[in-house]
Amino acid sequence: MYFFIDYMQVDDLPEVHAIDGLSFPYQWSTATYTNELNAPHHSRYVVVRMSPQTPINPDITPQSAFKRFTNRWLRPVIPLVTHRLPIVGHAGIWLSLDDGHVTTIAVHPDYRRQGIGELLMLALIDQAYALKAQQLTLEVRVSNISAQNLYVKFGFRHQGERKRYYTDNGEDASIMWTDDIHTAAFQERVHDLRQRLYQRLKTMPVVFTTPPTNRL
Ligand SMILES: CC(C)(COP(=O)(O)OP(=O)(O)OC[C@H]1O[C@@H](n2cnc3c(N)ncnc32)[C@H](O)[C@@H]1OP(=O)(O)O)[C@@H](O)C(=O)NCCC(=O)NCCS
Repeated sequence: MYFFIDYMQVDDLPEVHAIDGLSFPYQWSTATYTNELNAPHHSRYVVVRMSPQTPINPDITPQSAFKRFTNRWLRPVIPLVTHRLPIVGHAGIWLSLDDGHVTTIAVHPDYRRQGIGELLMLALIDQAYALKAQQLTLEVRVSNISAQNLYVKFGFRHQGERKRYYTDNGEDASIMWTDDIHTAAFQERVHDLRQRLYQRLKTMPVVFTTPPTNRL
């Protein structure tokens, strides 16, 4: 199976809602997502699509695609035809001052434990650099050990709690932060995770095929 990262589009929302419904006790509305998608200067949302075969032009190697990607992340980079491939996960980040706030991340239950959560985190970190964030933060349910493990892998640490943060059951949130994402230590950690994940997935590097908006 091949996995690809795209920017989330409004017409992806039915699939995104379906995954949210399988992942969270309550869901964001279409209006909330649409507002976020319309604010690319401070928020970015990505999806992971899957395909049983590579939908790319066979003349383009992962290496040349990666070079094009790193040269110009904002532009469509290669003639991938990933649009409309099924979505198996999504995530978002919101810039507040210089904090990159991870607002959501979810993987379809049938595709968990395959590295897609990590792929999404890597995409969010790329977006955090693009938005000029200095550090990353998020809230996570104190009972959500799977997600906490994922975040710890990416250098997040528990820094405090918000009592009764979740209104559905009154559960506390753990507030997690990374160090400065521009430090060599953080960048090395991400580099290592990226290399290991790409080897494991045997897939293309993270590739954005569409810009977040025409207005950028
Ligand atoms: C959290 C979530 C996004 C992880 O996605 P995933 O694709 O399964 O994660 P990955 O396969 O990339 O796993 C990456 C790491 O996360 C941690 N992790 C993921 N699932 C785990 C589990 N069931 N138990 C323990 N650790 C887990 C591990 O550290 C794992 O690294 P490892 O494979 O080296 O052990 C997914 O479980 C999910 O969608 N949960 C429901 C939505 C949710 O809770 N979102 C977070 C809101 S704050």
